[in-house]
Amino acid sequence: MAAIPAPIDATQTPEWKALQAHYDRLQAEGISLKKWFAEDPDRVKKLSFDTSDLHFDLSKNLVTDETVKLLADLGRAMGVESRRDAMYAGVHINTTEDRAVLHTALRRPVSDEGKFIVDGQDTVKDVHEVLDRMYAFADKVRSGEWKGVTGKAIETVVSIGIGGSDLGPVMVYEALKSYPRAVDVRYISNIDPNDAAEKLKGLDPETTLVIVVSKTFTTLETLTNAREVKAWLLQTLREQGAIDGSAEQDAAAILHHFVAVSTNHEKVAEFGIDPENAFGFWSWVGGRYSVDAAVGLSIILAYGKEVFEGFLAGFHDLDEYFAQTPLEENVVALLGLINVWYVNFFKAKSHAVLPYDQYLHRFPAYLQQLTMESNGKSTRWDGTPVTTETGEIFWGEAGTNGQHAFYQLIHQGTQMIPADFIAFVNTPNPAKDGDQDIHELFLGNFLAQTKALAFGKTADEVRAEGTAEWMVPARVFTGNRPTTSIFGEALTPHALGELIALYEHITFVEGTVWGLDSYDQWGVELGKQLAKQITPAFHDDTALEAQDASTQALIAYYRAHRQ
Ligand code: F6P
Repeated sequence: MAAIPAPIDATQTPEWKALQAHYDRLQAEGISLKKWFAEDPDRVKKLSFDTSDLHFDLSKNLVTDETVKLLADLGRAMGVESRRDAMYAGVHINTTEDRAVLHTALRRPVSDEGKFIVDGQDTVKDVHEVLDRMYAFADKVRSGEWKGVTGKAIETVVSIGIGGSDLGPVMVYEALKSYPRAVDVRYISNIDPNDAAEKLKGLDPETTLVIVVSKTFTTLETLTNAREVKAWLLQTLREQGAIDGSAEQDAAAILHHFVAVSTNHEKVAEFGIDPENAFGFWSWVGGRYSVDAAVGLSIILAYGKEVFEGFLAGFHDLDEYFAQTPLEENVVALLGLINVWYVNFFKAKSHAVLPYDQYLHRFPAYLQQLTMESNGKSTRWDGTPVTTETGEIFWGEAGTNGQHAFYQLIHQGTQMIPADFIAFVNTPNPAKDGDQDIHELFLGNFLAQTKALAFGKTADEVRAEGTAEWMVPARVFTGNRPTTSIFGEALTPHALGELIALYEHITFVEGTVWGLDSYDQWGVELGKQLAKQITPAFHDDTALEAQDASTQALIAYYRAHRQ
């Protein structure tokens, strides 16, 4: 296995220094998108890009031809291309866990079997074996051939998981809701009993199939919820007289109503789930990179094989584009590098993702785990400290709702917040308000926002509207607030796959420049450990005494007010 080179300190490279000098020069000259557009009639053309299904307009970013060249130089110097190739080939670039990072293998076509043997495993062959089993299982459930313990077909799926075992499937399920589905899916993630209580309301266990999704099959929330749902299922079936409460009938009910997605086959069997109904994946698939692995089973159950195949093909097309396009023309790499430009030179702290498509309403939440669990780190892949800012905060909300909530701060606040606008030309739900096409009204808002952010409104323009002089500053829009427009024909499974792969690779590019292992997540461990120590303190005085003063006081409040 190839050794991982020590990370380079980006800030000490001539390419970084050239970018710093360029940044200082731009600031001294005055950054003006208006001026840059006026001076260069080809700006839009030069900064527009296409992948199979997505069209990108980067012209409203704070970059010039020179910036693009210098960013590509930095990317090359930091090994974006060589590390990308190493990742695709299965080198253990996840150094702290000593693992390959091979989500790209999850979407390779069957014709790639035998070409990606990693640590002795034919990764593509194994991926397709699991896919075939999932498709066969989903066919049975969707056609009604798969029966519950009382002989009824499945109508609802309950998917239990958290983090990467939940956010991706929910987001995709919501995104594809305009497609016909054979079963409804409800997702339970939070350990807060309110989540399971609400999701189980009105469900008939006889027609419910439960998927327990957990890479490790040890996650507290998921296993607790799985046990709770198991108890609900057995109890309700008994009350309905469907089973008699004997251990044998309980076991039969579990076999008919529970399946699992996990890498941990032993724990799945311990839970009582038939290993035949367990769909696996591998340690080289990170949780937040697993929606296109068996973790996507609920998507196949709902929408079927063809939709999932289109989804995987979208990922793969984008993977190939990222692998084969030279950095200067590679919109995926450029978007990652431009994010670095904003975080490290403009000191941007956050990045808004604003889908102008209601079906993508869970996309920002999904991206939060993908980007922030990956790049929210202060240590590089060899254990040395980072030398510059990393990991901006990703957040957002579907347009136009955000316009009436937080856009004020993006337009006129003191922070610079780069924003990605995502929209589609066609809607599955065309509608009119009189003669007005409502989708055009919606898209008009997307275009208006990016225009206002880029070009603003000057004091003279405000004055010309008759505004009192003292109020002019409050109504000025500075402009020069950067946005990327991502436009597609329609939100198809293929386009969605491309969109997800796009952000996976943007995250990789940023992490590579910063020298991070974007594929571990040690930062979630301490809270998990402490929760185990603290929970007994609600009742146990010795455990309480071991806590800090603040925790003790909060538990005292709990004890005093518990009903
Ligand atoms: O605690 C964080 C995390 O490990 C995520 O990285 C992961 O997606 C999630 O928990 C769920 O883990 P699992 O799929 O093993 O239940």
